[in-house]
Parts: sequence; structure tokens; C-alpha cells
Amino acid sequence: MIGLNRMEQITIDATQMVAHVGAGAVTADVQTAAERAGLFYPPDPSSQTVSTIGGNIACNAGGPRCLKYGVTADYVLALTAVLADGTIVRWGDGLAGQGPTNGLAQLLVGSEGTLAVITEASLRLIAKPAARRTTMAIFADLDAACSTVERIMAAGIVPAGLELMDDTTIAAVEAFLKIGLPSDAGAMLLMLVDGEPEQVDADAAQLADLARAGGALRVQTARDAVDEANLWKARRVVSIALTRVRPNRLGEDISVPIPQIAACVRRIKQISLEYNFPIVVYGHAGDGNLHPNILFDGRDPNDTERLWPAAEAIFAAALALGGTLSGEHGIGTLKRPFMRHALGDDLIAVQQRIKAHFDPQTLLNPGKVLPEAS
Ligand code: LAC
Ligand code: ZN
Repeated sequence: MIGLNRMEQITIDATQMVAHVGAGAVTADVQTAAERAGLFYPPDPSSQTVSTIGGNIACNAGGPRCLKYGVTADYVLALTAVLADGTIVRWGDGLAGQGPTNGLAQLLVGSEGTLAVITEASLRLIAKPAARRTTMAIFADLDAACSTVERIMAAGIVPAGLELMDDTTIAAVEAFLKIGLPSDAGAMLLMLVDGEPEQVDADAAQLADLARAGGALRVQTARDAVDEANLWKARRVVSIALTRVRPNRLGEDISVPIPQIAACVRRIKQISLEYNFPIVVYGHAGDGNLHPNILFDGRDPNDTERLWPAAEAIFAAALALGGTLSGEHGIGTLKRPFMRHALGDDLIAVQQRIKAHFDPQTLLNPGKVLPEAS
């Protein structure tokens, strides 16, 4: 194992709008350092207070803000990495991102540690939005919330976040935080807009109208920064709150095209009945990225027997609807058995050749992402 946690240096170059960081720099610390300089580092995985940039790059992390601002890959201007034979490479120019080795830097983004050990990165920063506003909309059921997502995305507003939570998620978060969420709600959308104050006001008002037109029972815009922080805290603690509902959870991460979100959620709820597990759904609905979570009891063989078939049914549903195996969490070991089905033999073979080129002895993160060569 290689621990890079102590490579936590962060240097902000405000003139170039670039952060030079070590792989072990904590995501939230990079965001804070950027904001102190009046700049902004958008990728915001829910684990941002503990996740590190090296891990974010290795898995191409996302988060709510990625709907408007793009994922980690969009911010990587350059990388330093150590190859399997010990060669240290610096790929990407760290400037505007036009250099001849930028494509090589991007090849390592999302490679989950299988191609090289990323040690440093230069990250693009942008100007910090002047204002932001979050609106919460409560719905009687998931269908209404999902069709509202479609309505919003078709209306030409690009929210800085458009998050969905189902009934069990809302109740679990409320039981955990006690911040006054309606624990009997069927579904909830959190809608964030940011930018210039006047535009933010106009967009927030339009989002509220769209939510009402979509059948929202209650629409409430955060009154102040505390209100706003509470709503996002509610979203960030979902994973933790769900572990209070049942002893274990299998947190999944699929993506489907926006017009298929409602169908996908319906299918997941069907799978929940078929396999007799509570399966909750939340996630970054604005970019079609859903986190179905199977809640189970790892001590109960009856549960563990049905767990994989249920997870497989979810993956199959995503692929059948034109979606992907992972929105932002990556493949790891969990989804490795499904890669051949998702990509097909030819594309797997191409990826295996890339892997063999970088790591002929399979030293780097063995047993992850790609199935064995056949
Ligand atoms: C989230 C993590 C699980 O969205 O990706 O909370
Ligand atoms: Zn997520």
C-alpha cells in the first residue's frame, strides 16, 4: 500500500487561476484555499471533507456542482505521476490546458490507480460565483419529482445542483439531523443556482415556478446562509443517515439519460419489491446520476444471498436504459464483473492493451476495474 496523505501541499496561483496541490490534499482544503483567493474549485463529492485530490482524480469524482461545472477531469491541467517502472512523468502544461501531453494526463484521470501513482496535480480554478441560492421542493411521489427534473433541464436553466432524495432518504436524514424536513414527504428536490445576484434571483424564481408546475406540494427557498447550509448538510449526510436504517448498505452509482430517470427509478423500486430489500434512491438527478442504495443486514445469510442478484438487476436496468455502470464512484472490484457486459469484448481488449503497456507486471492496483485478459 502507498499512502500519499502527507503530500498535502496546496499553492494557489491567483494570476494563472491554478491550484498546485499534492495528491494527499483534502478536497475541502483545496476549495477553502481557492475561495480565500476569491476563486472557486467546483468538484464537490459528498466526502469532500475527507477525500483527497489524488483519489478524486483517480476516480474522476463528481458531486452536486458538477451538473453546471463539470467533473474533476475538467479541472485537471497537469499531473505528476510515477509509472510502474519508477519513471516520474509530468503530463499536461498546468496552464491553459493546450499542451502536447494534456491527453496523457487525462488518460490517468479515472484510471483508479491502475496505470500510475498520481502524486501531484495542477487544477484549474474559476472565478467564485457572487451569489447562490438553494430552493427545496417537496413532492408527493418520486414520479412527480423526476418529471420536474426533466422539465427543469429542458427549460434552459443550468442549476449548479439538482439533487433528488426519495421518501426513505428524507426520513432517514430527518431522523439523523432533526432539522425540520417533512419526514412524510414522497420525494424532494434540492435546486441550487449560482452566479450574478440578479440572475440568481430570476433563476431561483423560475425553478420554484417549474417545481410548482410539476406538482410540488411545498416549495421553499433558503432564507439565509444558515438555512442554505442546513439543506446541503442534509444532502451530504445521506450516506451516513442511511446506515441507521439497516446495518449495512450497498451504495450504488448509475447514470441514465435524463428522459429515462423516471423509468429508472420505477424499475429500481420494482427491483426492491422483487428482491425484498429496501432500496432507496437519491443522487444528482440533474445529470442523470442516481445512487440506489440497497439496505441490508450483512449478518443475515438470507439477505447476503439476494444482495448480488439485486445489485446486478440495478446495473442491468441502467444499461438497458442507455445508461452507464458508474456515474462518479468508479468500477473498483464491485463492478468489475459487469465491465464486459457494459463495454463488450473489443473495448475491454483495447483497455487491457493500455493497461499492459503501462503496467506489464500488474503491480498497480491489481484486480481492479478490468476483467482478466481472456
Ligand atoms: C453522494 C455520494 C455517495 O452523492 O456520491 O452523496
Ligand atoms: Zn454522488
